[in-house]
Amino acid sequence: MTTTTERDGAVTRVETIGAAADYLAGRLGSIPEVAIVLGSGLGRLAARMEGARRVSYAEIPHFPATTVVGHQGELVAGTLGGKPLLAQSGRFHLYEGHAADTVALPVRVMAQLGVRTLILTNAAGGIRRTFSRGALMMIADHVNLTFRNPLTGPVIPGEERFPDMSEPYDAALRTVARRVASSRGVPLEEGVYIQVLGPSYETPAEVRMAERLGADAIGMSTAVEVIAARARGLRCLAFSTITNPASGTTAERLDHAEVMEVAARVSGDLERLVDGVVAALP
Ligand code: HPA
Repeated sequence: MTTTTERDGAVTRVETIGAAADYLAGRLGSIPEVAIVLGSGLGRLAARMEGARRVSYAEIPHFPATTVVGHQGELVAGTLGGKPLLAQSGRFHLYEGHAADTVALPVRVMAQLGVRTLILTNAAGGIRRTFSRGALMMIADHVNLTFRNPLTGPVIPGEERFPDMSEPYDAALRTVARRVASSRGVPLEEGVYIQVLGPSYETPAEVRMAERLGADAIGMSTAVEVIAARARGLRCLAFSTITNPASGTTAERLDHAEVMEVAARVSGDLERLVDGVVAALP
């Protein structure tokens, strides 16, 4: 699975991003300033949007097709509770064989279209022993353990060569999320997320390593996207749904279908939280 960029150096990343953004501007009309990346099991939020304009990835120049069961691929512009919102339903993962550049393509395209705030969601394994299945963790910081970075290569205009990453997840947005969680009665944990390459789940020894590296939750997305978003100056906020205890923290075996099922079953709390955060944003 390769994009034109990966296949053919003659098409620059700038052209790739520009072509996708131009196409979407024509199809979606006015672009909301807030976007959300919907992780496993969270597609329902896109279905609740009003006045939705939908564009499937297959129609967007240079967007590859998603290959993961349960991740549909479309961008949806509309409103949620009356607030304009752009939803990215389905993401590209490194474990599908995509380059970090491709994983970050939707983020860069959304930034190009005028998005300024990015909310990301994912499913993750719980490393912190007090996390129960279905817990929600706001990401306070991350470790990118994929050894991939979407910013390698020529610097894209509008991005920095060496972006600061001292506050990857916006402190003011996190304050808003904590307030919304408490006012809506949504239990919200906070911790460090570690992104690994996948697709195999971790061994117990790898989870012990991640724990020593300071991680509270482990998954296969998000950090690479946040790096590209920060390079463009987007404000980021991210939430993990803890779908399972991480490998070795219990005797349980991991199963993707079960991860998806749990993510969908407990998505109500996350939807209430996201609804409140979107409503609270200026
Ligand atoms: N590990 C990695 N990714 C995941 C997990 C996990 O335990 N659960 C959901 N996504």
